[in-house]
Amino acid sequence: MKRVLVLNGPNLNMLGIREPGVYGTVTLAGIEERLTRLAQELSVTVEFYQSNHEGDLIDRIHQAFGNVDGILINPGAFTHYSYALRDAFGSVNIPTVEVHLSNIHKREAFRHVSVIAPVAVGQIAGFGADSYELGLRALVKHIEQAG
Ligand code: DQA
Repeated sequence: MKRVLVLNGPNLNMLGIREPGVYGTVTLAGIEERLTRLAQELSVTVEFYQSNHEGDLIDRIHQAFGNVDGILINPGAFTHYSYALRDAFGSVNIPTVEVHLSNIHKREAFRHVSVIAPVAVGQIAGFGADSYELGLRALVKHIEQAG
């Protein structure tokens, strides 16, 4: 069975409380529940990790080397400036899909750039909590096609 690691970056533990006009009222626990159900449907295993700390996310990506087949990540604000996170993906070379609840391309200019996108298979943004489910489906299809 293929294994997927779902990573969430800074402030995503505050979903449900944080700027509901932008991010909706769904909680991270709610998103993880939905992904667990979808993973069963897709016959993959999922594990979850959230951190507000760049180094902790990097350590988790390194640990994933040889242990997972794909990574689904919402890097939060690290999306826009963390070269260290980007290099972590470059180091392990695990197929990664980047997701965002909001459409980062129609928000403030600083959110238009993703330094993660060039090392990701692709990016899904703007569908609220559904971005994660669409991202998991896309990632699993990609992994299975790669063999
Ligand atoms: C976000 C978009 C980022 O710009 C922001 O910093 C976040 C959430 C999203 O899911 O829409 O923390 O990644």
